[in-house]
This record gives sequence, structure tokens and C-alpha cells, in this order.
Amino acid sequence: MQRAWVLALGLLTVVATLTLVSLMFAAPATDSPSATEAEPADNSYCLVCHLNYQEEGLTGGHQAVGVGCEQCHGLSDKHSADEDNITPPDRMFPKKEINGFCCECHPRTELVKDTDHEDLYSPEPEDDDETCTECHGLQHRLKVRTRIWDKKTGRLISDDGVRMMAGSTGEGKEERDAKPETPTALFDRENLVAWCIVPFDAKKRGPDQRAAMLESLGIRQLAYDWRAEHVPTFDAELDALDRHNIKLTAFWFPPTLDANARAILDVLKRHNVRTQLWVTGHGGDLSASPEQQAERVKAEVERLRPIAEAAAEIGCTVELYNHGGWFGEPENQIAIIEQLKMPNVGIVYNLHHGHGHVDRFAALLEQMMPYLHALNLNGMTRDGESRGQKILPLGQGELDLDLLRTINVSDFRGPIGILNHTDEDAQTRLQDNLDGLTWLVAQLGGQPPGPKPEPKSWRPAEK
Ligand code: HEC
Ligand code: HEC
Ligand code: HEC
Ligand code: HEC
Repeated sequence: MQRAWVLALGLLTVVATLTLVSLMFAAPATDSPSATEAEPADNSYCLVCHLNYQEEGLTGGHQAVGVGCEQCHGLSDKHSADEDNITPPDRMFPKKEINGFCCECHPRTELVKDTDHEDLYSPEPEDDDETCTECHGLQHRLKVRTRIWDKKTGRLISDDGVRMMAGSTGEGKEERDAKPETPTALFDRENLVAWCIVPFDAKKRGPDQRAAMLESLGIRQLAYDWRAEHVPTFDAELDALDRHNIKLTAFWFPPTLDANARAILDVLKRHNVRTQLWVTGHGGDLSASPEQQAERVKAEVERLRPIAEAAAEIGCTVELYNHGGWFGEPENQIAIIEQLKMPNVGIVYNLHHGHGHVDRFAALLEQMMPYLHALNLNGMTRDGESRGQKILPLGQGELDLDLLRTINVSDFRGPIGILNHTDEDAQTRLQDNLDGLTWLVAQLGGQPPGPKPEPKSWRPAEK
């Protein structure tokens, strides 16, 4: 292909001269029309609203060579003309589509010749974990979102409700809810992880009984929580999981590298198990002056770095666990991760510690997406925490279907946790969650709800 050849030349050249650039655009006369000119692209139409992209690298580098917003996002004239801003742009990018798209102009065969890429990508398109934009477009992502569309269908999932135009006929929530979407494999049994079922279990099961119970429910993954009394049985737990073919997806981990932390690292190493270590923190109350904010981020980076390093040595990751307080805010976790700059650190998000987040959940999910590696679900009712209903079985909260819809259309494909975290029998509560989840997922697919399952481990009246 002539164009690949010309691009190859560009990649080999240390300094891309203007002549070369114009040569490059003279060659691929088949592609988008404006890319055939050497002139810089005109992005002014979009910058009217998206002023933040004026100085941004991915935009700037491409604008100079004639590749404007339009070449990547489409003409988007309806989007640009909609003063309510609820019409999506013509082209958006689900995570899976980013690499394929970039490689339409930057062929893989050329990219992998570069030392910065060779370890990341094979010449054959596969499921790459790392998107091009994780290195070339971090500033291209918005820090705050006011509208979220489904990147595939363009359906508006959530927005801040602000309407500029009086009497606007913007698509309402009811109309949005009426449109079915296909449930993804996200909520399939194989992707579910049992959480908070060790110290939280009326039946006080031992390692083997626990693994057998999970197997009988068809749950293939465990996130392991523990108390001091369980430390001597760590080995037995891992052996039992192995026998019952249950994956250890996560291990609750102390906030510092104390004796218990060492015991966990040691048992994981001996059993050659690579897993997520879930680490929490508090960091103070929510209000923080800019100086306090900077101090806290720094302190957390210093606390977490040795843990992340020890985890990396045995092939484990560290996931920051929201548990209220300053550390429980995703924005603060992201700030810590971005300063820590370690590839094995991410986020596990818990709905039950996110009651204060429900109204901006879609936006938060989008922000966390590059770092989110596990997501724990439970039934959610408005202000549940302050009303003594912090953790309902799935399906029992009036917010559950909306939250599930948001998660379903997001790019998240990691494991989904379901939890006991009560004094009930762990098996009964897990079963209630499975029943509730099945009921909700059917509705995602547009089926009529049918009778709501009646949980055995929970009754509305008693709580
Ligand atoms: C009238 C103002 C306006 C104009 C003009 C405009 N946009 Fe937007 N655009 C928005 C708003 C508002 C959002 C939502 C941002 C947020 O979440 O806060 C948005 C979001 C987007 C998104 C994000 C989609 C996603 O993945 O979620 C893209 C891409 C985009 N615009 C592209 C463009 C392009 C390309 C142009 C020029 C052709 C353009 N916009 C012109 C207001 C505008
Ligand atoms: C329509 C074609 C086209 C698409 C699509 C495209 N690029 Fe480019 N890109 C170019 C051209 C042309 C150049 C300039 C020549 C070169 O350096 O290869 C360039 C340059 C670059 C550069 C080096 C210059 C700089 O800005 O630092 C990077 C990095 C880059 N592109 C990354 C990407 C990524 C990431 C994507 C996907 C989000 C992408 N490109 C999508 C055409 C494209
Ligand atoms: C782990 C980080 C990382 C990822 C992921 C990554 N790149 Fe790069 N890329 C780099 C670095 C570092 C350079 C060299 C410095 C620069 O030009 O920014 C580079 C350079 C480039 C260049 C300029 C090449 C040159 O020799 O001038 C292009 C084009 C490019 N990358 C495209 C891509 C595309 C397309 C993808 C996704 C398929 C991608 N990169 C993924 C780190 C990355
Ligand atoms: C080289 C291709 C390319 C160009 C040029 C480009 N974009 Fe993007 N844009 C992307 C890709 C790919 C994504 C998805 C990034 C991701 O999710 O990591 C994206 C995402 C976005 C988003 C959503 C950010 C978020 O937080 O999810 C907005 C808004 C946006 N672009 C607007 C623009 C505007 C406005 C311009 C021009 C000023 C522009 N883009 C130019 C490829 C491009």
C-alpha cells in the first residue's frame, strides 16, 4: 500500500519535515478530503464550546497535519448546533475501538518497529489492554462530564439537566428508559465475585465449606476478606479455592505493610497466585483547602507506593477501595493514582460506600474508567445509608435498574462483585443477589419486569 509506505518513511524520520508532511498528504488521496491538504485543520467550529482542546496535544499534533476534530469525530453539525447539548457528536469511541481507529492511519506493522510500542502491540489486531490514548490522549479526556452518551448507540445516559432553550423537547428520562439495550456479558455468572462472605457469614463456614458453597451457586470468583482469626487459615483457604476451581480475584489488604500484610504477600507468593489487593484509606473529612488537598495526595502516594511495589514483585495489583471520607471520593483516588504513576494501581468501586455519589454516578464511572478494575454492586435506595438501608439485596432498591443500565453501556468489563456484608447466611444473601440480578438484567434487555423476587435474607419491614 502506497500510504503505508509513505507513513513508514515518516516514522523512520526523526524530524518530520514539512516537505515530508505534505508528501504524506499528497499520497493518500483516497481518505478524508481535508486530510489530503497539507494545511492545518480548522477546528474553530468545535472550539467555540470545546475551548479546552486549543492547547491539547492529540488535537494539536493532528491539527498541524490537517487532521481536525472532524476527521476523528465526524462533522457533528447537529451536535454543534444543539444549544441544549444533548445531541451526541457523530463519532465517539468505546475503549475497544480506539486502537483499531488510530491504526487506520498508523499501521501496526509500522508502530511496532518503534521501541515505545513493540512490547505493547503485536502486528495483529488483538485485544490490547492499553489504548493509544492512555499515552497519547490523557489530556484529551475531560476531568468533569456533564453529559454521558452511550458511545455505540449515541443514547443519552445521563446529564446535568441544564437546558438552555426554553420549552426544549430534549429526550426525557422516560423516553430514554423505554429504549432497551442488550445486556452485556458483564453480569454473567462467570464474571461475578463473592465479597464480604468470610467474617460476614451467620454459618461461620471454614475454607472448604465456603469454596464448596460458591461452587454450588455457580460463582467462580472470590474476593477474600478476613479478620485476625483467619490469618492461620490463609493457606487452607487458597488450597480449598484451588480444589473447587474458584479464582481468588481479590484479597483485602492492610493500609500499611504490617505483619499481616507480609503474611498475605507471602501466602500469595508461595501459592503463585496473582490477584488484586484491595486497600482503603480515610485521609480526613471531605472539605480540604488546596494546600491540604496537595498534602493528602502526597501522603497517600507515600503510604501506597511501598505496597504497590511489593505487589508488583509478585505480579499483583493494588486497587484503591472507597470506604467513605476523603479517600472514598473517586476524584481523590484518581489524583493519587496519577501522582503515583504505577501501572499496577487502580480502583475498586463499591456502591454501598457511594450513596452520596448516585446522582453523578454515570459521570464518575466515566472518570474512573481508565483505572477501574472491579465494581461491587448491591441494592441501592436513595439516602439508604442515613436511613439504615446501606446494603439491600440487588433488585430491592429503586435505583438499581438505572445504575445497572449505566454500568451496562459503559466500557467497564471487569469483574462485578456481589456481597453479603450482613449477619445473614452468606449463601442465602448471595442467592438473593443472584435472583435480583437476573430480574434486573432481563429488564435491561427490554423484557417486562415480571414479579420482583422476594429475598429470603431481607425484608423491607424489618429494616
Ligand atoms: C454548542 C456547544 C458545542 C459545540 C459547538 C460542539 N460541542 Fe462537542 N460537546 C458539547 C458538550 C456540552 C459536550 C458534553 C461535555 C461534558 O460532558 O461536559 C460535548 C461533548 C463532545 C464529545 C464527547 C463525546 C463522548 O465521547 O462522550 C465529543 C467527541 C465532541 N463533543 C465533539 C465535538 C466536535 C467534533 C465538535 C465540532 C464539530 C463539537 N463537539 C462542537 C458542546 C459542543
Ligand atoms: C486520519 C488519519 C489519522 C488518524 C485517524 C490518526 N492519526 Fe495520528 N497522525 C496522522 C498523521 C498524518 C500524522 C503526522 C505524521 C506522523 O507523525 O505519523 C500523525 C501524527 C501522530 C503522532 C505524532 C505527532 C504528535 O502529535 O505528537 C501521534 C503520537 C499520533 N499521530 C497518534 C495518534 C493516535 C493516538 C490516534 C488515535 C486516537 C491517531 N493518531 C489517529 C494521521 C492520523
Ligand atoms: C505506553 C505508552 C504508549 C502507548 C500505549 C502508545 N504509544 Fe505511541 N508513542 C509512545 C512514545 C513514548 C512515543 C515517542 C514519543 C512521542 O512522540 O510522543 C510514541 C510515538 C508515537 C508516534 C510517533 C511515531 C514517531 O516515530 O514519531 C505515533 C504515530 C504513535 N506513537 C502512535 C500510537 C498509536 C496509534 C498507538 C495505539 C495503537 C500508540 N501510539 C500507543 C508511547 C505510547
Ligand atoms: C486523532 C483523532 C482525534 C482528534 C483529532 C480529536 N479527537 Fe477527540 N477523541 C478521540 C478519541 C480516540 C477519543 C476517546 C479517548 C478515550 O476514551 O481515551 C476522543 C474523545 C473526545 C472527547 C471525550 C473526552 C472524554 O472525557 O471522554 C471529547 C469531548 C473530544 N474527543 C473532543 C474533541 C474535539 C473538540 C476535538 C478537536 C478540537 C477532538 N476531539 C479531536 C480522537 C480524536
